[in-house]
Amino acid sequence: MAHDPEPVAGGEVAEDPYARLDPAVRARRDAALKHVRRFGDPVLKSRARPIERFDGALRDEIARMGKLMDEALGIGLAATQVGILNRVLVYRVEAEASIAALVNPVLEWSSGELEPLDEGCLSLPGVLVEVERPIHVRVRAQDESGDPLLIEASGLEARVIQHEMDHLDGVLILERTSRDQRKQAMRTLRESLAEEAQRVA
Ligand code: NI
Repeated sequence: MAHDPEPVAGGEVAEDPYARLDPAVRARRDAALKHVRRFGDPVLKSRARPIERFDGALRDEIARMGKLMDEALGIGLAATQVGILNRVLVYRVEAEASIAALVNPVLEWSSGELEPLDEGCLSLPGVLVEVERPIHVRVRAQDESGDPLLIEASGLEARVIQHEMDHLDGVLILERTSRDQRKQAMRTLRESLAEEAQRVA
C-alpha cells in the first residue's frame, strides 16, 4: 500500500506529491519501484500459493520485500507485487516500528463496523481511491520461521493488512471502490504509466 504523503481533499491528486522529495530519496524510490509490478501485469490478478517451506530462501525474500517497501516509501507490500506468487506480505504503519511480515495470513474475524478512507497502491502509480473496509480485524498467520501469529489490528494497520491480503488473492483496490472512482483511476493510470514509460525510455 502506498503512503499518502499529503492527503488531498476529494481524493484527487493535483500534482505528483513525491516531486518535493529530497532528490536522493526520490531516486532511491524510483529505483525500488522498478522492481514492483504495475497495473496490467497479469501476476497482479493471480492467486498466491501457501508457503510450506520456511527456509533461508523465504527469509531472504521477506528481507528483500521489506527493503523494497522501505525504499519505495510504501507502508505495505505483497509478494505478488514483486512477481512472486507466495502468500507473504510485509507492512509497517509507524515509521519507527520494525517491519512486520505475515506468512499464510488468514482473516479470522472482521468487525461489522466499516470505515471509508483513500488508499494508494505501489502497483497503481498516481491512484488514490476511497475503499470501505472493516475497522478491526483478527488475522492468523505464521512468522518467517513458521511459528503461529495472531494479530489483532485496528485502523490503518487493519487496513494495510486487508489491502495486502487482497493482493494475495489477485484483488486490487480498483475492484473495491465505486464505479466513478474506478473510471477516474483508470484515466490517471493510463497517464501515469505512459509518463513513466517515457521517463524510463
Ligand atoms: Ni497495493
